[in-house]
Amino acid sequence: MARLAAGVVLITARDTDHGPRGEDVGMTATAFMSVSLDPPLVLVSLRTGSRMDDLLAEQPLWGVSVLAESQRPIAGRFAMKGRVSDRLLFEDLAYTRGEVCGAPLIGGALATLECRTEQRVEAGDHVLVVGRVLAAAAGGDDGPLTYFKGRYRHLR
Ligand SMILES: Cc1cc2nc3c(=O)[nH]c(=O)nc-3n(C[C@H](O)[C@H](O)[C@H](O)COP(=O)(O)O)c2cc1C
Repeated sequence: MARLAAGVVLITARDTDHGPRGEDVGMTATAFMSVSLDPPLVLVSLRTGSRMDDLLAEQPLWGVSVLAESQRPIAGRFAMKGRVSDRLLFEDLAYTRGEVCGAPLIGGALATLECRTEQRVEAGDHVLVVGRVLAAAAGGDDGPLTYFKGRYRHLR
């Protein structure tokens, strides 16, 4: 599957259990796809037991930012394993907060989506989270960040 070129997205959600104001959580993902147009559904595959899997088991609202080629450092920081807190990772990032999902939507992303979980399907060591798209916006016109054979790539 390393030979299947993929776009890179950042999945975000707000952990409202985490203190009075909550904590934003982000996770880099390539296992993300469009599922249905009517109704509009998308899917992300989350490793069972990952922080985002734990969070989305409780929090039905989440955001997606489709990363641009210049946003490789963002993909890198949200893919680090064993990080303690995501708070600092968002601190120096330009983002807006989704009006529907309350999660960070990354500034300069090619597109952003706000979703509500519609279905969860356990699949081996991952869970497929199907979300209904409640809001969508197109962003900049840069090239996409892609991932192929274990490396980030630019589409040229
Ligand atoms: C390019 C790339 C794509 C990834 N895609 C996914 C994905 O689709 N689903 C997933 O669960 N983890 C994916 N990961 C791994 C997560 O980003 C990573 O495990 C997570 O941020 C670390 O948190 P954790 O310790 O809770 O797993 C990907 C990592 C990279 C570098």
